Amino acid sequence: MSDTRAIGIFDSGLGGLTVVKRVREILPNENIIYFGDTARLPYGSKSRKKIIEFSIENTNFLLSHNVKIIVVACNTSTAVALYEIRKMTNIPVIGVIAPGARAAVAFTKNNKIGVIGTAGTINSEEYTKHILELNDKIKVYSQACGLFVPIVEEGWIDKEITNHIIAEYLMPLKIAGIDTIILGCTHYPLLKNGIANFFENKINIVDSAESCAAAVKEKLAELNILNSSAARGTATFFVSDTPAKFSEIGSRFLDEEFSAIKVV
Ligand code: DGL
Repeated sequence: MSDTRAIGIFDSGLGGLTVVKRVREILPNENIIYFGDTARLPYGSKSRKKIIEFSIENTNFLLSHNVKIIVVACNTSTAVALYEIRKMTNIPVIGVIAPGARAAVAFTKNNKIGVIGTAGTINSEEYTKHILELNDKIKVYSQACGLFVPIVEEGWIDKEITNHIIAEYLMPLKIAGIDTIILGCTHYPLLKNGIANFFENKINIVDSAESCAAAVKEKLAELNILNSSAARGTATFFVSDTPAKFSEIGSRFLDEEFSAIKVV
């Protein structure tokens, strides 16, 4: 059976396009409906109450488009609101945290994992809880990296100052001797090279967008609701406000030009 309903993906803004990119790589025939809450970002520094409220509204928007699965691309929303979102619907809901935690546990050899994300994600301790549920011998070293999101949005990926900021945040994790790090935020995959260099390319880097896309594919296959059409799927993008430099920021995340953007 072929299910042509779209995959619904939301994020606090355009960062979730890192997840769209991975989903399109491994599920090119699927249709995608994306919602980026650009009017209300960032979520990373907001209260639990607001993050839950916004995440519920975003989910309702996707549900109104008759999607077959909801993907919470935002780490902060996953950390704080996944449970509330799951209560809203019978269709599957996939977040970014469980798949990322699973991948990191599979990678680590010395049982020392670093997790980086927004303050909201790190304070929730959701990554730590998931990792310890899988293996309670593992030590988790968490670090909120508040400046990484604005750096990426500014496009300062290869600047010298960015390498200094990476070093400032990640030195404690290096000293702790982690052998695996989870990029627990939509924006951080864009800093992957700088982070890898800082660790002299000696550690495993888990891109939570990539593990999440794999989990989406697995879930659709398990439920037998993949789209078996031979044509490339469509991607439709909705945002709650058009930010300055919208297409520039968007194409940086997606690595392709994107069209059909609607403001809602
Ligand atoms: N999307 C958020 C996350 O992955 C980062 C941006 C924000 O703080 O809204 O945690």
